[in-house]
Amino acid sequence: MTDHTYALSNAWKQARQRLALLEDELDPATRRRLLACGVTAGWQCLEVGAGGGSIAHWLCQQVGADGRVLATDIDTTLVAVDAPPNLELATHDLTRDPLPPAEFDLVHCRWLLHHLPDIDDAIGRLLGAVKPGGVLLIEEPDFFPVHAGAPALYARFMDALTRAVVAHTGRDCYWARSLPAMLEHHGLQAVGADAQAAVLHGGERLARFYRLSGQQARPRVLDTGLLAEADYDAALDLLDDPGLWAFGACTVAAWGRRPA
Ligand SMILES: C[S@@+](CC[C@H](N)C(=O)[O-])C[C@H]1O[C@@H](n2cnc3c(N)ncnc32)[C@H](O)[C@@H]1O
Repeated sequence: MTDHTYALSNAWKQARQRLALLEDELDPATRRRLLACGVTAGWQCLEVGAGGGSIAHWLCQQVGADGRVLATDIDTTLVAVDAPPNLELATHDLTRDPLPPAEFDLVHCRWLLHHLPDIDDAIGRLLGAVKPGGVLLIEEPDFFPVHAGAPALYARFMDALTRAVVAHTGRDCYWARSLPAMLEHHGLQAVGADAQAAVLHGGERLARFYRLSGQQARPRVLDTGLLAEADYDAALDLLDDPGLWAFGACTVAAWGRRPA
């Protein structure tokens, strides 16, 4: 039976560690993109699916005391830790709960939409919260690079893992390349995009992130039938092997302005 719940819950005992590894990997490029979008003192920002909270907390520093950051997630426990005074929190499910309409200079989400059943609907909801003239920035992984030149077991594990965690959506994790076109179809102006493929080294940060993800999602990964239990165990060992060099996901970032 398909499990419709989020596969990688923040309530898991190692969720903080897992999300911190992802943040260390992705934050430098995200911060660069946010600065290029113009984020500055006094801005009203919305961070959706805030996870471990590093970007929400960083945005609070950028917007200062005259600005405001609203961070939402289905589970805000981790983002709430050491929250700065200009951070507001809301427990919020993007698939069904409303967002404040046309209120934010910036709306941002990262590595969220691939978990949701209807990406177009989610983009529409995010866009509805952007002020006229404000910016929407979305960053999502496309896993095509994992198949390039890596050991077959690694590629098979990553394929099974990503299919397992998004099985309830009816999609795979090879669609983020379409994000810029999706933003244009939603009527955003001055749409821009870039993409960065991660390099993974066995035993290091990104490999540890995928190892933890695989451990958290173990029953779902095995349920896919794409990987026997012995191969699953061997893949976890491979992720610990310093001889492994491979590509991780390619994060596709796309941004644009809501028409004034
Ligand atoms: C892969 S984590 C990414 C966290 C953070 N955006 C980052 O990039 O570091 C996905 C986050 O989305 C949240 N999430 C999952 N489904 C959601 C939904 N329907 N609405 C809002 N947040 C959701 C999860 O709780 C988790 O914190």
